[in-house]
Amino acid sequence: VRKNLELRHQMTMEVRRYLDSKGFLEIETPMLIGSTPEGARDFVVPSRMNPGQFYALPQSPQTLKQLLMVAGMDRYFQIVKCFRDEDLRADRQPEFTQIDCEMSFVEQEDVIALFEGMAKHLFRTIRGIELTEPFPRMPWSEAMRLYGSDKPDTRFGMEFVELMDVLKGTGEFSVFNDASYIGGICAPGCASYTRKQLDQLTDFVKRSQIGAKGLVYARVQEDGSVKSSVDKFYTQEVLLRLKETMKAVPGDLILIMSGEDVMKTRKQLCELRLEMGTRLGLRDKNKFSLLWVVDFPMFEWSEEEGRLMAMHHPFTHPKDEDIPLLDSNPAAVRADAYDMVCNGVEVGGGSIRIHDPELQDKMFKILGFTEERAQEQFGFLMNAFKYGAPPHGGLAYGLDRWVSLFAGLDSIRDCIAFPKNNSGRDVMLDAPSYIDQKQLDELNLALDLKD
Ligand code: AMO
Repeated sequence: VRKNLELRHQMTMEVRRYLDSKGFLEIETPMLIGSTPEGARDFVVPSRMNPGQFYALPQSPQTLKQLLMVAGMDRYFQIVKCFRDEDLRADRQPEFTQIDCEMSFVEQEDVIALFEGMAKHLFRTIRGIELTEPFPRMPWSEAMRLYGSDKPDTRFGMEFVELMDVLKGTGEFSVFNDASYIGGICAPGCASYTRKQLDQLTDFVKRSQIGAKGLVYARVQEDGSVKSSVDKFYTQEVLLRLKETMKAVPGDLILIMSGEDVMKTRKQLCELRLEMGTRLGLRDKNKFSLLWVVDFPMFEWSEEEGRLMAMHHPFTHPKDEDIPLLDSNPAAVRADAYDMVCNGVEVGGGSIRIHDPELQDKMFKILGFTEERAQEQFGFLMNAFKYGAPPHGGLAYGLDRWVSLFAGLDSIRDCIAFPKNNSGRDVMLDAPSYIDQKQLDELNLALDLKD
């Protein structure tokens, strides 16, 4: 752990050195603020002096850094704690650290160039790795089509191949005939998998976290013929077409999943691809594969809320060529938003922001905000924009994720001093904990615990 903390220190030093050399100013923003929507729940803090009112801890300094741009602080950064009350995983802590940046008078290309430069600087100074080529860029839609993920692990291939034309309606297998998506991956050299290994894979995709109903496999034999778990439903001719479409060769194992929900099925196939990558030793921690995922959709449909939600945040600029679609087909609008992905981990993300109050108004309307609610929640930002906001944009890197990638850790917890466990508890300080009645009284709070 000491080594990891030393690495963390070196990284923050290099981040400061790099950004300082590019003319960025480190500015602290407050921790006791109002809600800053980044899609998670807020942690809140009761105010003693304002009975019944609460501060929220920042999910990120998003709106504050935009205000700094309006105020003329053209290049801002901050290594800053952010707080999000969301489900925890290996790469998520309720409080974590961002390298948060914003720049004025920039377009997407400028932001990408500067922060790709920072990633290269970190690789060079911390890991001694010289990355000379520009990082590849992949539109979000392609990442979903080929990997079923907006953060694809590109250390290995095994890309998805869509099989609707080959397998839907060409045999008697009703599961495929009823499917809206059928996709396969080709695991090289795995045709020799035993029945037990295949059963393990089937159990893997049926786990509750993945939730698939099943898995179909096809082995490409030495003589080029195909033997599959659905042989009785398909002719060899169809199975040979499957082999051809998958570009499979003798010795390969084709794994196929299908479903009625395209996105959901792709996500399930993504889990299977990652599992196969791990089993085949293709996810080497000392190999780094970076890319930018770009052209994210502006909105996503929320079943829970029954409305469109901003995929990144409500201040993200739509792509200029898609602005006319805001009226006719908002779901098809793409955003000037970008994520940096390394080895299947989202290490950073950002966007160009809306700086035109009219466009921002329109965005709030599409997101279902009434004028009053938008004013109440974001009035401070919209009013500031009225004085003239420069075009601006930025990005935030996840420091904990960068450190754990460089240190080869499985969880970001191991590069954080005093991390929380998966229930959000600090087991050493035994927090959160109950507070005295006196403290509750001072805060005008009464507890109403359900059980
Ligand atoms: P975003 O929500 O994508 O963007 O966060 C930026 C980066 O922060 C890291 N991150 C986390 N790390 C650990 N634990 C978490 N719970 C956690 N949540 C996020 C990720 C992520 O890429 N305001 C925008 C940035 C911008 O638009 O400039 C924002 O917060 O590495």
